[in-house]
Amino acid sequence: MRRELLLITLVAACAWMCCGCSNREKHYVIGISQCSEDTWREKQNGELRMGNYFHNNVELRFAAAGDSDQRQIEQIDSLVACGIDLLIVAPNQVNTINPAIDRAYDSGIPVIVFERKTNSRKYTAFMSADNYEMGRQMGEYIAKRLGGSGKVLEVMGLKGSSPAIERHKGFTDAVQHYPQIDVVATLQGDWTEETGYEIVKNWIKAHPDVAVDMVFGMNDRSAIGARQAFMEAGDSRPLYCGIDGLPGKNGGITLVNDSVLDASFIYPTNGDLLLQLAVDILEGRPYKKETLMMSAIVTRANARVLLMQTEETMRQTENLGRLHEMADSYLKELDTQRTITWMAFGGLVLLIAVLVLLYLNKIGKMTLRRERMVNSLWELKKEELPELPAATANDAGEESPDDEGGAAASLFFARFKDVVEARLEDSELSVEDLASAMNLSRVQLYRKVKAVTGASPVELLRTARLKRGYQMLMTTDMSISEVAYKVGFTAPGYFTKCFKEEYGILPGDVRGGNC
Ligand code: FRU
Repeated sequence: MRRELLLITLVAACAWMCCGCSNREKHYVIGISQCSEDTWREKQNGELRMGNYFHNNVELRFAAAGDSDQRQIEQIDSLVACGIDLLIVAPNQVNTINPAIDRAYDSGIPVIVFERKTNSRKYTAFMSADNYEMGRQMGEYIAKRLGGSGKVLEVMGLKGSSPAIERHKGFTDAVQHYPQIDVVATLQGDWTEETGYEIVKNWIKAHPDVAVDMVFGMNDRSAIGARQAFMEAGDSRPLYCGIDGLPGKNGGITLVNDSVLDASFIYPTNGDLLLQLAVDILEGRPYKKETLMMSAIVTRANARVLLMQTEETMRQTENLGRLHEMADSYLKELDTQRTITWMAFGGLVLLIAVLVLLYLNKIGKMTLRRERMVNSLWELKKEELPELPAATANDAGEESPDDEGGAAASLFFARFKDVVEARLEDSELSVEDLASAMNLSRVQLYRKVKAVTGASPVELLRTARLKRGYQMLMTTDMSISEVAYKVGFTAPGYFTKCFKEEYGILPGDVRGGNC
């Protein structure tokens, strides 16, 4: 029973500690497969991380494929194999990543296709700006900027990637309304500054006589690469337009404001909105299957204002980041303290339980030992004990209480037993009578009997009376009342009550229920 109690206490204390430490919120892992790594994607990943401040139960795992289809396929497969709950993917090209996207979707996880399109129909939601419209508006702007007449060199983004296809189409649709706008070449780039520089350098070499008025780089990096090539060729004639319009140093907005670029187009990163969409899907809230992000052209007319605003936003974002770090460290501290408190409390409960059990165990053992000792002493036969002079008997009580089983104590108790048994029938028998029969005062007798047996003389007298009663019930035909009187009880009812307390059965039970 005690062992079970200990087990229950242990389990309860452990459960208590676990409750205190556990976090019941569901935990999600989101895999983010970026087709490449550059300032635009860095900004977006930063916003995803920032958005994550508001979703403590979400873990983000990033992968960047460095513009390689094969690498992106492998990365998606391995994210899925690691057990992500949702995939966000910006596919390198329209056709090439489909098998991995299909596999992810078929494995049962939601897929958000972001910013670049895929031919796969297996996705949960799509979020992007309108690349066709951006190309179209840029075509309109360039045509008007050149007064409806001039030579334009177009530097494409990565072949097969949806923004390159759509921006080109939008641009072409716009400039075809301006017959004097001559697109002298459409060069195949890959979104990088280095490639932009190389292909334009080669083109200039091949076409030294063509006076280009405007370069349309499909992103700002391509436009900057092209500008480098023209500058090196000593040609400062062209203007340069790009797309991305990032804030900050070397970002498109700054470059327009500094007249390095003539115009750019904000290609929104919106990592925070992207994460919110992912969390809505994971948590079963309603969401839009197709989300079109807002964007706007950046020219000399608005670059300064935009720069001021974006710089302000960036400062606030940095402050928010710092605030979050602070809050995070406070929360961690609080969490540690909470865990320690719970564990200390659980430990205390456990300690108290163990102490109580040890105490109960000790009491139990002491009681058992006392009962055994009293019984065994009571059972000693008189003939087995040596005759003692009264003085020795007196000394016996002075033995150390530790020597409970000692010979002197046994002899003292044997004498006490003699005296008790000789006068058991006497209902008037008092502790004073027993004391004087043993040449002791009442207090001395009490002290010695208590020291030797742990019980009081009155308790022992009662035990002896009941024991005798038990024997008589077993060995004689006397009624229960007769037995009660015979062993010194003045009321049979009280005898029955004491008998039940001592033996757990009624006197009648000894006789099989007969009185
Ligand atoms: C970033 C980027 C941008 C471009 C976009 C097209 O990786 O190359 O510069 O606008 O991707 O998807």
